[in-house]
Amino acid sequence: MMSSKKVFLKVAVRDGERTRKALLEHNLLDIDFKILSQDGALFIPLRHEVKSELIDTILGSNHYETGEMDFESIFHGPKNLSEALEIYLSPEELELVPRAYDLIGDIAVLEIPDELSSHREMIGRVFHEVHKNFSTVLAKKGAISGTTRVREYQCLAGEDKTETIHIEYGCRLAVDLSKAYFSPRLLEEHNRIAQLVKDNEFVVDMFCGVGPFPIHIARHGNAHIVAIDINPDAIALLKKSIGLNKLVGTVEPIVGNAKDYSKSKIADRVIMNHPSGAFDFVPDACRILKPQGVLHYYDFVGGENPEDTVTNKLTQLVDEAGRTVEMVCLVRRVRDSAPYEFQMVVDAIIS
Ligand SMILES: C[S@@+](CC[C@H](N)C(=O)[O-])C[C@H]1O[C@@H](n2cnc3c(N)ncnc32)[C@H](O)[C@@H]1O
Repeated sequence: MMSSKKVFLKVAVRDGERTRKALLEHNLLDIDFKILSQDGALFIPLRHEVKSELIDTILGSNHYETGEMDFESIFHGPKNLSEALEIYLSPEELELVPRAYDLIGDIAVLEIPDELSSHREMIGRVFHEVHKNFSTVLAKKGAISGTTRVREYQCLAGEDKTETIHIEYGCRLAVDLSKAYFSPRLLEEHNRIAQLVKDNEFVVDMFCGVGPFPIHIARHGNAHIVAIDINPDAIALLKKSIGLNKLVGTVEPIVGNAKDYSKSKIADRVIMNHPSGAFDFVPDACRILKPQGVLHYYDFVGGENPEDTVTNKLTQLVDEAGRTVEMVCLVRRVRDSAPYEFQMVVDAIIS
């Protein structure tokens, strides 16, 4: 029997079943390893390290400890996709097998390189045999494109569907990958912005997609969030999510072009997470913001110093719109978007 070092959550036996279910629901339980019982406590193996704020939210308590220890594997087959594919692929092909995948609700999304395209279905089927807990295995087809930022998917194994409920930081998000943009890689950013919003703020999310920012913010506090998207399917999914969550604040979903939002000088905060196109909407954001307000501006930037590049770009765009960047509160790389390119965010106070 194999064993591996894993991050664990230690809880009292009486809390064990509730904790196990909550971790499983949030895809944090590593189901390939045995839970260990010792001295009235359970040591539960996790898929990866998890921030204590997230664990507190999921469990609704801080009666636990974390640490690292060896766990016994309960998986009798191959331990990962590459090992399972060894009998089907050459060593050169095995090198190209994806090491990571996106997990969206109960759907796994693989990015299979073109060189392995003739093996797509087989890779999906074997992946599903190794990871039986997913209902569906999809493969990305082509790039994200067009105004709605949607891409095509091919079902490789399991139930042929693209719709699911994805949970991040306790927020339930209705997602349909074939109809509206969603990335599970932005959860930290959704949570970060929600933590900045204060009670009674008026927030406008100009490009809300299926609404992760509005749902995070409205779960966190008593703010009013206008959530705009040009894609009616994205707004329909947001409306579904509004019904799935206990919200403290209010969300006002609007189908439409953010340029047509008619209210001016109304928002304490504007979110512009449309990194391939937000630059074109800075005058509109400046019109919507109060005389002093916060702008969260996103852009794809490459080069030597993406922090300076994106800050200078935003400063110039705001100047051209007749307003001023009073202070840059934060500039950061949100994620890699392409080789040598990042999705950047600038938080700025605009006066
Ligand atoms: C990157 S996605 C949104 C991501 C979303 N904020 C999130 O965190 O998941 C950009 C969104 O902008 C929307 N969009 C594009 N042009 C628009 C416009 N002129 N007005 C409003 N929404 C627009 C697209 O439909 C898409 O859902």
